[in-house]
Amino acid sequence: MDHTQAEADLTLKVSRRVSAADRVAVIELRDPFGGDLPAWTPGAHIDLVLGPRLVRQYSLCGDPSNRSVWRIAVLREPDSRGGSEQLHTAAYENDLISVRGPRNHFLLDSAPRYLFIAGGIGITPIIPMITTVAAAGAEWELHYCGRSLASMAFHEELKSISPDRVELYSRDQPASIDLDGLLANPRPDTLVYCCGPESLLRAVEQRCAGWPEGALRTERFAPKEQGEPVRQGAFEVELAQSGVTLTVPEGTSILDALEAAGVQVLSSCQEGTCGTCETAVLSGEADHRDSLLTDAERAANNTMLICVSRAAGPRLVLDL
Ligand code: FES
Repeated sequence: MDHTQAEADLTLKVSRRVSAADRVAVIELRDPFGGDLPAWTPGAHIDLVLGPRLVRQYSLCGDPSNRSVWRIAVLREPDSRGGSEQLHTAAYENDLISVRGPRNHFLLDSAPRYLFIAGGIGITPIIPMITTVAAAGAEWELHYCGRSLASMAFHEELKSISPDRVELYSRDQPASIDLDGLLANPRPDTLVYCCGPESLLRAVEQRCAGWPEGALRTERFAPKEQGEPVRQGAFEVELAQSGVTLTVPEGTSILDALEAAGVQVLSSCQEGTCGTCETAVLSGEADHRDSLLTDAERAANNTMLICVSRAAGPRLVLDL
């Protein structure tokens, strides 16, 4: 995970808002005084702080070299918990929005060849990746699925980068995506980046099981289903910096137990997808229940996301 990017609280102005597809609004954010925004890299996201308990993450989908503006795309999801609805109905040009970040847990690593697979609004982090690898002269192809062309934001912009490298799949198109064919042969020169709905992510993960470790990179906007916790019942958490020890009851998250004890830790999604609450583990074994850390990061047991992950044993010592 990338800990190098700026973590900042900013007040930004909505400088432009346009419709990019059915139920998708593109919002541009600028510093109200015209200053530069923090640097970011492809795959990064920002938090929009929409209320005291309403913080939502959106991938930056503009040009990383343009420090004057951030672009995000917001899918209106009336059944969601209210963030996208609020942005669609109450964020207009010249409104001010509180923003944190950017942070990047979906880093674009260098490779000779890239296979990008996106579903729906999952196209957003992929866009700056494509412009970056295209400018660097790498081999790439994009397979982009959606319900209909009208619902698929940015498909024309992507086609204009390289029409032959972009395949669109929707009910308006004759072909459907052939994941078996695309991923049948593991290639050591290729990184696979995938973002989209859970069904697509799972299907790609299954087909990449035989690919080299680390070849598949995914980002989830919704939490992965988790099984039962490794350990039933309460456990203890020692905070190494303060020497305080807390009991975390069954059914309560470490984050909530800390907050109840008056220990403030930065958090955002509270569902294990954004990485804001990442905390170093000094001893004890974590039961990782997030949707973000890689298998290697879980096995290393150096860090955990305390909004959802728990202890696998009776005690954890955290660097707090
Ligand atoms: S608050 Fe988002 S991962 Fe914990």
